[in-house]
Amino acid sequence: MTSNPIPPQFQIKELTHQSTYLLDGELIEWDGVTSEVYSTISSTEEYQPTLLGTIPTLTEKEALLALDAAYNAYDKGQGLWPTMKVADRVACMETFVEQMKTKREEVVKLLMWEIGKNLADSQKEFDRTVDYIYDTIEDYKQLDRNSAKFHKDSGVHAHIRRGPLGVVLCLGPYNYPLNETFALLIPALMMGNTTIFKPAKFGVLLLSPLLEAFQNSFPKGVVNIIYGRGRTVATPIMQDGRVDVLALIGNSKSANALQEQHPKSNRLRMVLGLEAKNPAIVLKDADLDLAISECIAGTTSFNGQRCTALKVIYVHEDIVEEFNKRFSEAVDALKFGNPWEDGAKLTPLPEPDKPAYIQELIDDAKAKGAQIINAKGGETTDNYIFPAVLYPVTKDMRVYEEEQFGPVIPVISFTDIEQPLDDMAESNYGQQVSLFGKDTNTLAPLIDTLVNLVCRVNLNSSCQRGPDVYPFTGRKDSAVATLSVHDALRSFSIRTFVASKDNAYNNAILKDLLDSKASNFVSTDYIL
Ligand code: G3H
Repeated sequence: MTSNPIPPQFQIKELTHQSTYLLDGELIEWDGVTSEVYSTISSTEEYQPTLLGTIPTLTEKEALLALDAAYNAYDKGQGLWPTMKVADRVACMETFVEQMKTKREEVVKLLMWEIGKNLADSQKEFDRTVDYIYDTIEDYKQLDRNSAKFHKDSGVHAHIRRGPLGVVLCLGPYNYPLNETFALLIPALMMGNTTIFKPAKFGVLLLSPLLEAFQNSFPKGVVNIIYGRGRTVATPIMQDGRVDVLALIGNSKSANALQEQHPKSNRLRMVLGLEAKNPAIVLKDADLDLAISECIAGTTSFNGQRCTALKVIYVHEDIVEEFNKRFSEAVDALKFGNPWEDGAKLTPLPEPDKPAYIQELIDDAKAKGAQIINAKGGETTDNYIFPAVLYPVTKDMRVYEEEQFGPVIPVISFTDIEQPLDDMAESNYGQQVSLFGKDTNTLAPLIDTLVNLVCRVNLNSSCQRGPDVYPFTGRKDSAVATLSVHDALRSFSIRTFVASKDNAYNNAILKDLLDSKASNFVSTDYIL
């Protein structure tokens, strides 16, 4: 808690009791066990977590009812939603996003309280999600326009489109509880799949203002929203075998555990965004001002709780002293405060046990020869631990191996560029890298190698997912399938087509199908 008072518009004046869950088009009242939702932000001078509200603790029974609802709404491909005209599906999505936009303030306020994201980033998360929905609608229309035709090869006509896969179980992460979750849910829905969605461990109540919009924008059973522990609700859904797609942003342990529950693993498609340990590599000719400011953003924005965060920094031996000095000063200059405070770059950690975990990483590194090189590094309060810059970090340290997902910054020096390259090749992760340097003769071969070790090489800038139209994926334990506005529509669908031999009999039928507009699939209508 900082001593600054909480502005009235951000105070928690009443609790959010989420007493319903969305099942088969109904907001069902839950009178069973509930769980309290706390923020690690204190509302009082003397520190204590703030109670924000309650959520239902659903059981296996409700989870399986949600699966029934999604399964029945898909109805073996005959359901209203999977067979609906593209224009009608788009209309449902537009209804949803219009209603969603009216809830910006409530959602942003809860984002700040539930996960400690600062005001600007919380607003950005909301706005970016709205843009993502509009972009998805536009891309889907384009996909449809591109399919509004017939191909002919070897005497066979083909009308090829992308169709839905079936029932999608959607699980999002706590660091982007709105954006990342919707970046799965929205494309899955747009392609005609039906869904069961369980919010992450933090960032749950912020969905409450949107529940009615889900209920009244989509046909019943198309979106089902359940609450509870993953083990209690997600496991039985997977064990049942009727889930066609597991869409999860989180860690590979949970993804693997859930995948193993499915009785027919060959049937299960996976769309996964998983952990990463993105390195920055600072070459000796790098523009240090630029490298430092990008590394600050990459390591500390949202306290390093981003899968794309820079989680280890390699600096050439010749410049490491200078880099460490200036980088440490820049870290110490960052302001800690509650999310609504002006200029607060560092904010409370939503996981109560995170400071202790980060401290363990620091202690382990120190025991093995690293030092905290910034003055404020490791300073701990009730809900925070100030980012510690650790140097020199070696491969036997936990902070080198583990994805810290929090405020601690390991720095390693190198003389031979093969060292970071070998480390990356050995690593379990392969999402992105940041490469800082100028000389094209040095950069060129490096880029050619790095693109084969990760899926995005950021030249003189920190790693990030956006803009959301670009591919977001990773190698090894970092991802399965590719997400971007465009790629996500592909990931949640399959190519399916109608083929007919080119003869008078078939052609007359095709013509009649098109003229009568009786089929929603066989159609050359052009959506504007
Ligand atoms: O947690 C991982 C997010 O996809 C990162 O997205 O790079 O826009 O923060 P971002």
